[in-house]
Amino acid sequence: MNITHRLRRLRATPQLRALVRETAVTVDDLILPLFVSDKVTGRVAVASMPGVFQLDLDELVAEARAAHAAGVRAVLLFGIPAQKDEHATQAYAENGITQRAIRRLKAELPALIVITDVCLCEYMSHGHCGITEFHDGVPHVHNDPSVELLAATAVSHARAGADILAPSDMMDGRIGAMRTALDEAGFANTAIMSYAAKFASAFYGPFRDAAESAPMSGDRRTYQMDAANAGEALREVERDIAEGADIVMVKPGLPYLDLVWRVKERFGVPTAVYNVSGEYAMLKAAAERGWLDERNCVLEQMLAFKRAGADLIITYWARQVAEWLR
Ligand code: PBG
Repeated sequence: MNITHRLRRLRATPQLRALVRETAVTVDDLILPLFVSDKVTGRVAVASMPGVFQLDLDELVAEARAAHAAGVRAVLLFGIPAQKDEHATQAYAENGITQRAIRRLKAELPALIVITDVCLCEYMSHGHCGITEFHDGVPHVHNDPSVELLAATAVSHARAGADILAPSDMMDGRIGAMRTALDEAGFANTAIMSYAAKFASAFYGPFRDAAESAPMSGDRRTYQMDAANAGEALREVERDIAEGADIVMVKPGLPYLDLVWRVKERFGVPTAVYNVSGEYAMLKAAAERGWLDERNCVLEQMLAFKRAGADLIITYWARQVAEWLR
């Protein structure tokens, strides 16, 4: 038999496979989301996300310390305030839960990179990501006034010591407004990781339990992107880069790997992918039933993100992956 292309030759042993392996996941790629709450004492489990908790400040530091000790370099912080209102006052309060959390983390773990989610939904009584008026129960989210509050929130996080700001609201013009506000306030070196291609996804359900941020009426389809649109996602990314984003993100992750690939190919800037709560919940559920092997599936997913071109992976498994990679 004369087969010229014997591709199996290099698969024969673990050593040969390692020698020709094209992609690797390392601990440097991982970002761990953490939820800090002004309403809990200790930690409260999130039912739809086994292993994920709402944390008070002490527990937040403990979780961050454990992840950092495992090698994770960065956390992505979400704050849950004790009070919500129609102006998201606690989002940009000097002494808000997120601002206090940033100060604690930077004081106790100075080498840990603190990234903060910049959005208003957790702080709004109605759960939308911007200033909202309701007509017959239908939400109308106003763009420009929301951008002002988002910029104020970004500056307050920077003032508290955040290293990277991650706006997740999907209002138009927020990156440029934030960059200008940060520069004017003396934070020219604080970076922006834009949730640039963020889709209106059914995979965020468990997160909204964790962050208590589900909209009370309506949905997010007038600001987050339609799942059908790839060209529009590339335009969002292009615009956010032009407005000053240092890192761009595609979210969700697994169902949108085509976009991770296209964004990285086209723009070449640091590209992050968010392995979202629903992706986490479905694999956890299958693993709990013994239907899938959690470790092997998670590591394979991480490789898939890297193979698609992601430089950074935001995942609830970050600490676990760091431990598995040791
Ligand atoms: C806030 C925000 C959301 C997520 C990150 N930031 C929820 C949403 O947009 O409704 C989702 C994260 C996840 O599902 O893991 N706007």
